[in-house]
Amino acid sequence: MLSSVRKKRKEGVNLLELAASFYRERLKMQEGQPAQRYLSARGLSEDVIKTYGIGYAPAGWEALKQHLSERGIGEPVQVEYGLLIHREDTGRTYDRFRDRVMFPIRDLRGRTIAFGGRVMGDDQPKYLNSPETPVFHKGRELYGLYEARQISNKLEQLVMVEGYMDVVALAQYGIYNAVATLGTATTEDHLTRLFRLVSRVVFCFDGDRAGRQAASRALETALPQMIDGREARFLFLPEGDDPDTLVRREGTQAFQDRVTCAMPLSEFLFEQAALGRDLNTVEGRERFASQVLEALNKVPEGMLKSLLLESLAQRSGLAQEQLKLLLEKRAQAAQRHALKNLAQGQPEQLEADSTPSPVPVAAQTGSTQSSRSRSQALHPVGRIVQLLLHEPNLVSVLPDHLDWLPDDDDAALCQELIALLKAGATAARR
Ligand code: UTP
Ligand code: MN
Repeated sequence: MLSSVRKKRKEGVNLLELAASFYRERLKMQEGQPAQRYLSARGLSEDVIKTYGIGYAPAGWEALKQHLSERGIGEPVQVEYGLLIHREDTGRTYDRFRDRVMFPIRDLRGRTIAFGGRVMGDDQPKYLNSPETPVFHKGRELYGLYEARQISNKLEQLVMVEGYMDVVALAQYGIYNAVATLGTATTEDHLTRLFRLVSRVVFCFDGDRAGRQAASRALETALPQMIDGREARFLFLPEGDDPDTLVRREGTQAFQDRVTCAMPLSEFLFEQAALGRDLNTVEGRERFASQVLEALNKVPEGMLKSLLLESLAQRSGLAQEQLKLLLEKRAQAAQRHALKNLAQGQPEQLEADSTPSPVPVAAQTGSTQSSRSRSQALHPVGRIVQLLLHEPNLVSVLPDHLDWLPDDDDAALCQELIALLKAGATAARR
């Protein structure tokens, strides 16, 4: 069973690799000339094109389909891996990517797992991405990560940018440590990946309002990841610029300097919390401190958390001990709340659901879907066990009867745990 899944994946990866080399070949041929011109107009050299394996998908409706079919690859698997579109109504199939500059998306081992394709004119969507497939989950993958690792096996930091072009333009200027999400917001999975490789991540954002908003979402996602030894920074670009335009105008050194001077997470956190508040008033400081505490609640225990607390004490005028108490109260309240909801069969508050929507891919461009974090993905009963083990006192907020527990093996374990904790609590009172 497992091996058949593996075999199928291998088949898929081979197929995507075939497609990637098909696109690369086409870029070199007569029909690829406009794409070549487009790429050089965007300032990309042969070298960078080669490093990133950029290609061209021909304009016809079945160029790739024919190429693959001649090599004995069936249409259903081409559809499954997102290369071919199958129209239910007419039963016809045609190439998903047509007349586009093609960026292969590779996994850490360099295997092509998906594509992003850019139009050369003003057609919509500007970028078309592969759909979710057995090998491609866009909430997890990062464009440019493989290439960054190829260039240097001692990466110190990675710069998160928004687009394919930003990654390749920075590479063109000798900055090879940029990666991009694929038309989604940054997820916890993305950060887990990055922090496994480097200790510092610098997020790049547009200087406009949307950029600030994206940055505060990234901050929320980053907070739970900030164990000691990791660092996150926020780089805000001048309005109207993206890394591509900026590095071209200012050059490599100036861009590097901006990265070096990017705002530390702590500073951005305090800045966000102070936004629109008058810290000269008691009320303003209270709101400010509350917001910071809410964020601190998400930060793992460690030095960073202590230092942030210390800094909050200075900024708010509240005693650190007092803040610590408030923080503990908050954490307990949050856990009580979560447990109660779970016992009542309500899911925990989740971010936008990440199940693939039935909307055609062409309409999903730039959509921001986020994936659940691991702990949230736990079965509710598993999560209850986790919460109880973490904070046994919480058993007191559970209803007396256990009708709310589902009828399965996990529930039996949970039931035993609850019984044990209740017995313990009673014993302790005696
Ligand atoms: P942008 O619209 O900011 O484009 O999209 P860009 O990176 O500046 O690209 P150029 O310079 O015009 O070529 C940023 C990213 O958002 C996703 C892509 O991943 C893109 O790189 N996107 C954007 C889509 O997925 N679909 C779209 O239609 C547009
Ligand atoms: Mn751009």
